[in-house]
Amino acid sequence: MKKIKAFFFNSLYSIKVTYKASRQYFTLKLIFTITLSFFPFVNLYIWKNIINFLTNIKNYDGINYLIMNIVVYMLFYVITEFFQRITGYIEYKYNDKVNIYIENLMLDKFAEVDLAFYDSSKFNDKVSRIWEIKYSMTNLASQFFNTIQSLITFSTALILLAALNAIYVLLILVLSVPIFVLKIKVNRMNSIFEENNVNIDRRIGYFKNLFTNINNSFDIRLFNIKDFFISKFVKSWIEWYKRRKELTLKASIFTLISLLISTFINHILLYVLIIDKLSKKIIQIGDATYYISVFNQFYNSTMRLIGTLSWTQYAYQQVVTVKEFIELNPIIPKSGTLEPKDFSKIEFLHVYFKYPGKENYILEDCTFAIKRGQTIGLVGENGSGKSTIVKLLLRLYDIDGGQILLDGIDIKEYDIVKYRAMFGVLFQDFISYSFTLRQNIALSDYESIKEDERINDAIMKSELHDIVKSWEKGLETHLTRDFEPDGKELSGGQWQRVALARVFFSDRNFIILDEPSASLDVFAEDKIFRQFEQLSDNRSSLIISHRLSSIVNADSIIVLKEGRIIEYGTHRDLLDANGYYADLFHLQASRYITDEQKSK
Ligand SMILES: Nc1ncnc2c1ncn2[C@@H]1O[C@H](COP(=O)(O)OP(=O)(O)OP(=O)(O)O)[C@@H](O)[C@H]1O
Ligand SMILES: [Mg+2]
Repeated sequence: MKKIKAFFFNSLYSIKVTYKASRQYFTLKLIFTITLSFFPFVNLYIWKNIINFLTNIKNYDGINYLIMNIVVYMLFYVITEFFQRITGYIEYKYNDKVNIYIENLMLDKFAEVDLAFYDSSKFNDKVSRIWEIKYSMTNLASQFFNTIQSLITFSTALILLAALNAIYVLLILVLSVPIFVLKIKVNRMNSIFEENNVNIDRRIGYFKNLFTNINNSFDIRLFNIKDFFISKFVKSWIEWYKRRKELTLKASIFTLISLLISTFINHILLYVLIIDKLSKKIIQIGDATYYISVFNQFYNSTMRLIGTLSWTQYAYQQVVTVKEFIELNPIIPKSGTLEPKDFSKIEFLHVYFKYPGKENYILEDCTFAIKRGQTIGLVGENGSGKSTIVKLLLRLYDIDGGQILLDGIDIKEYDIVKYRAMFGVLFQDFISYSFTLRQNIALSDYESIKEDERINDAIMKSELHDIVKSWEKGLETHLTRDFEPDGKELSGGQWQRVALARVFFSDRNFIILDEPSASLDVFAEDKIFRQFEQLSDNRSSLIISHRLSSIVNADSIIVLKEGRIIEYGTHRDLLDANGYYADLFHLQASRYITDEQKSK
């Protein structure tokens, strides 16, 4: 019962959403659907009159009656066609509107949810399919119209057949039950098959993708592993085919049984009944064809109803996912209202953090402060928690213990959008957009996209000018060839400079660079850091780098190990302390000293 209720409410939800997407087309579609459901019966009725007249014709007395019926029949035929075309058109418009509406809802949601959401495995699987399954929402709503149409046809046909023989109708209803059950069974088998095979389907898709992806194609050629991949693909496919074969056999048997039952009620019972009435002259030939057609209407609508019902059940699961997603409430943006002023200090106080749903702490008892105008270096091994500190600083996640304070006030008290607007960040996994150079750079302050002078300044600071100056289209050059045949493909380091230019352009008071020199050549790195030092007089910055040379001049260096701060001080202090940092620094330096120099 609970399930039925949930099912009902979720179907209603889809209908409500699609109604909101386009009230006008929804109403139109409903009106046309209902009207069209009655049309076939009117047609059959007129046809019956024509046949009855023709079989009884003795003289031409009633010829006007015949002509009138034929004219009405033809007229009705044209009207039906006309209505169907209009309905088709409405459906087209309606579906487009619903799709755009739902996609918009979802995009909004994606931009709004907490990052923690992406980490939770509960949703991860489903969300990765969300674009695919959002169609279930549109489909569920259009199934609503189909159901209305089938229900009208179903009940009208039953009422009309009852006029022939009420007991027969009762028998049809009883015998429909096994047909119902069998058909539902087949549909269930189909959906179970699909569910069980998601894995195989994904694998098949994965192998196909391996061949279409350019990066994989390097490996395929280099290692000559084409046959290996193809054999894996074929193996998955054979498994799929085997399961499919079993299903098809079972489904055919069930379908055959239900066909036998329906043939029995249709041909044997109905014909016996009709012949009996014909022989007793209770009905005429026209009536006979009429009842057979009405029965067909009944049978088809029953099949459609069953189909819709089981399909709806399947779509329902997906709608629940889409609904849960659309109704998801972000936790983080529900934050304070304070507006950050010109800040003077940001500090971590005994901060503890673990990723949502994870057991172990990634950061433990981290305490440090960054004052206005300071440059802080952050070093540590892979996985020690450096990028995590950046994410916490930006409040992409909330902490599990301790406090992060901006000028002595917990960052949760600040308006999240305005708070984040203080930072310019180069993420470790910066994104390369298939946009123009101008757009790629100005994304960080989109309202100023027309300020060429500032864009060019950012290009200078990130050492891009030498590359860009030879580009004919300058700032309007498309990056990547995804959409423009003459777009520029950049190297890893060039992309990194574009991402840096984006940070410089943003002109924020707090700059965070996570591995800014990972792909930069030594010359570019040197120049960029020099620029950066000049530029950051009144700004604060946090620089994460494995190349210690980038941070030797920092006001303070934080050394992180397994989520804990183990050393903290200037380059000089840390060298004097002769601890972990000093070891790391000497190790890196020694790699640049050749044996020959060592021996000197
Ligand atoms: N979204 C996440 N969910 C769960 N664990 C995560 C997530 N992101 C990172 N981690 C884990 O947190 C730890 C710290 O990761 P983090 O990215 O902060 O390291 P890092 O110091 O920046 O390393 P690197 O030098 O490689 O950039 C790692 O053990 C990592 O596996
Ligand atoms: Mg990192």
